Amino acid sequence: MLQLENVTVRFGGLTAVNDVSLSVGSGDVVGLVGANGAGKTTLFNAVSGLVRPTGGRIVFDGRDVLRAPMYQRARMGIGRTFQIPQPMHELTVRQNLMVAQRFGTGAIDERRIDEILDFTGLAPKAGRDAATGLALTELKALEVAKALATNPSLLLLDEVLAGLETTAKRHFMNMLKQLHQQFKLGILIIEHDIETISKLCQRVAVLNFGQLIAEGEPADVFSNPAVVKSYTGADIGGDAEPTGGARHA
Ligand SMILES: Nc1ncnc2c1ncn2[C@@H]1O[C@H](COP(=O)(O)OP(=O)(O)OP(=O)(O)O)[C@@H](O)[C@H]1O
Ligand SMILES: [Mg+2]
Repeated sequence: MLQLENVTVRFGGLTAVNDVSLSVGSGDVVGLVGANGAGKTTLFNAVSGLVRPTGGRIVFDGRDVLRAPMYQRARMGIGRTFQIPQPMHELTVRQNLMVAQRFGTGAIDERRIDEILDFTGLAPKAGRDAATGLALTELKALEVAKALATNPSLLLLDEVLAGLETTAKRHFMNMLKQLHQQFKLGILIIEHDIETISKLCQRVAVLNFGQLIAEGEPADVFSNPAVVKSYTGADIGGDAEPTGGARHA
């Protein structure tokens, strides 16, 4: 479904994503982790078309999408959320979904919007001003709802679970599991919490200073000394490569 081949993103002298190759198969749930500033969001931006990589290839459903603008990538099936919720000001929750739907599909389907409002628990808030009338959990739900409104086959989720309290987090995780199991969406999810990633994902990829330093099943990856060191700065022994003093989340 999604193949990244040697993707590099530079901002001036800073290499935010460095030669990353990674694939997400149809219906896979893959975690993307790494310390603050590791390049996770930048990688999402490269896939969704918000930043142009300096090098490499991004292939989605067999097509090279590197030159495709954001809306075309959305229409091909790449949906995303933003780390900092970005509702459109002076529009209601429902109107926000309509804008996202038109962006991602080129048309409006009110029935589908009702389904998404129900699915994300936002139906009672549909008429609220999205920028001023929502609590954090609802803003996060709106991010997911907007991404779903673009009708994706691959969902890129940027820390949608961060900052949620336990009950809300459980609710979100059930929602994501349903998206995967019932609706067969592929999911690439950025998340700092190791337990959450281990519960949700079949595979996890670790970025450290822009480089992919490990990839595999969560249990294996999170017991890899190089990964632990990149997360915590602590050396737990083994044959860890020096990874530099990565900052903890
Ligand atoms: N538009 C930009 N211009 C210049 N530098 C940028 C830009 N976007 C990101 N960066 C830099 O690229 C690096 C990677 O940032 P990015 O936001 O991708 O990290 P992240 O892994 O998502 O971190 P976090 O966990 O804090 O969200 C950082 O050093 C950041 O300051
Ligand atoms: Mg980020």
